[in-house]
Amino acid sequence: MCGIIGLCLHGKNTLRLGEAIYRGLLRLEYRGYDSAGIAVISDNGLIILKGKGKLSELEDKYSFTSLEGITGIGHTRWATHGAPNDVNAHPHTDCNNMFAIVHNGVIENYMELKKILASKGHVFKSETDTEIVAHLIEEYYKETGSVYQAFKKAISSLRGTYAILLITPLEPHKIFYARKDSPLVIGVGNGYNAVASDIPALLEHTRRVIVVRDGWIGYITPSEIYIEELDTGRILEPSRYIRVVEWDLKDAEKEGYPFFMIKEIYEQPRALRSTIHGLVNDVIIDEAVKLLADADKVFITGAGTSYHASEYFALTTMKLSGKPVIPFIASEYEVYAEVAGSSDILIAVSQSGETMDTMKAVRAFKAKGCRIISLTNIVDSAIARESDIALYTRAGPEIGVAATKTFLTQTLFLSWISILLASETGRLNSNEVAKLLEELRNAPRYVEESVSMSSETVKKLAEKLVPVKSMYYLSRDIGLPVAREGALKIKEIAYIHAEAYPAGESKHGPIALVEPSFPVVFTVPSDRKLEKLLLGNIEEMKARGGFVISVAPQGFNLNERADIVIEVPRTHWILTSLTHTPPLQLLAYYVATMKGLDPDKPRNLAKTVTVE
Ligand code: F6R
Repeated sequence: MCGIIGLCLHGKNTLRLGEAIYRGLLRLEYRGYDSAGIAVISDNGLIILKGKGKLSELEDKYSFTSLEGITGIGHTRWATHGAPNDVNAHPHTDCNNMFAIVHNGVIENYMELKKILASKGHVFKSETDTEIVAHLIEEYYKETGSVYQAFKKAISSLRGTYAILLITPLEPHKIFYARKDSPLVIGVGNGYNAVASDIPALLEHTRRVIVVRDGWIGYITPSEIYIEELDTGRILEPSRYIRVVEWDLKDAEKEGYPFFMIKEIYEQPRALRSTIHGLVNDVIIDEAVKLLADADKVFITGAGTSYHASEYFALTTMKLSGKPVIPFIASEYEVYAEVAGSSDILIAVSQSGETMDTMKAVRAFKAKGCRIISLTNIVDSAIARESDIALYTRAGPEIGVAATKTFLTQTLFLSWISILLASETGRLNSNEVAKLLEELRNAPRYVEESVSMSSETVKKLAEKLVPVKSMYYLSRDIGLPVAREGALKIKEIAYIHAEAYPAGESKHGPIALVEPSFPVVFTVPSDRKLEKLLLGNIEEMKARGGFVISVAPQGFNLNERADIVIEVPRTHWILTSLTHTPPLQLLAYYVATMKGLDPDKPRNLAKTVTVE
């Protein structure tokens, strides 16, 4: 939710400031895209350009790229407080336009602070929670005469979540920063330093980064990085925290594809290879498996796609090792945390590692004495840092708002754990374990086959679904989280109302909607028993005139009962997410693009949801 970036340059630096900030913002646009703005300190003082709309529209209007200066900050917004409009767009300033602020997060006590500031004569331009921070700094600057002290006092008055950047002509070479619960990364450059919400925005400049921790406050100049702990006043040595990221720039670019989503669908085999490499080489996996084997209760949680991966893990684990696993949607954590205790484990799944609902679940379970295993895609993410064991999917940056490669890498990772757990609990012998792990190692090849076998049929089917308003995705057992994922994809990027149900449940209500040509997608796992059962459910839908689409393994005997058959490779059932999800992702992508929609930036959504 919201992307922020700041860049400070030496006078002689050849980087064009406006252009560099604009390009950084383009890489952060997946975090929010209802409005954007840039502020720079130039020879003429503070200049701010901002407005409602996507970055490219605003660039046409304001020419961000022509802005010159030495220090600048930028923001791309996903509105929380105040409608998306020109006035509410960031950066925000104080009464005298001396302090310019960009912010990602939510200031919970902004109404109280606003009242106090108003009583001191401050007049506000916007409806945002952020603007009060600029006014607070203005107020404290009057008191202290020091920008940094004023910034510290202002930050100390805030309750809520924030990554905040401040620039001021009073100290033109500095960008002040502070972080609590919203991500922030410093890019350590040569002749300049930068700071941004996420690593992709920095990759153009540097791969040397410092992940800013909660409670850190400080500033960067072109040649200095200052870090202090807000609570203790302890000054930290930056070199101790520098690390080099493995990603490079092409991971964060479209590489000739029209959209990130399609690029990310096609790069799933590559992402899976990197996940497998991590799984084979990371000793911490065994530690995680031991913890799970010894746990009394195992809970697993996530939001959206990450919840589907969580449900997938619960099913694979129960099927393979017989160990009960309780999956729950992260925002529903309270009731589950209530029954958790110190001999239980919570697995928290999150691509971004920032989702507030998942973070809240982690904290509630920690408070009950549970140990936490996290699976995120971002090294050192907030959720990873709060966990006892931090595992990583290693899918590379996912920029499209809809999760694609991260779902496949999450389910492969978690299936690997399920297999090792079944070995640990003695349910699988070493031959069985070796055979199953070998199947997972083949996942990249199966995904390639699935895409090449299905894409032409999927494209033709997409044309038929363009006018559709509503549809069902049905499955059973291990196919169900995959059906849910298919429904979520088409809902979020193609704006078709889609519901996923257990196929057996469909006759208890949902079938009432099925009339001639109502589309019903069946996800049929490679499992003879499930195939037989699902065939029965397909008959039920056909009998009501439903337009039946089956995503099924080669050799599934439909006897022409389905209207459209999308064949995928026949594998062990544990690979269902890997073989059956790609055609469902492609279907959503093609319907969206045929409707003229931008699948990378669906309306009302943001890639990372850092509010409850
Ligand atoms: C769906 C999607 C969202 C996320 C959800 C959780 O395509 O992208 O539903 O899956 O917001 O995000 P993470 O995994 O970052 O916690």
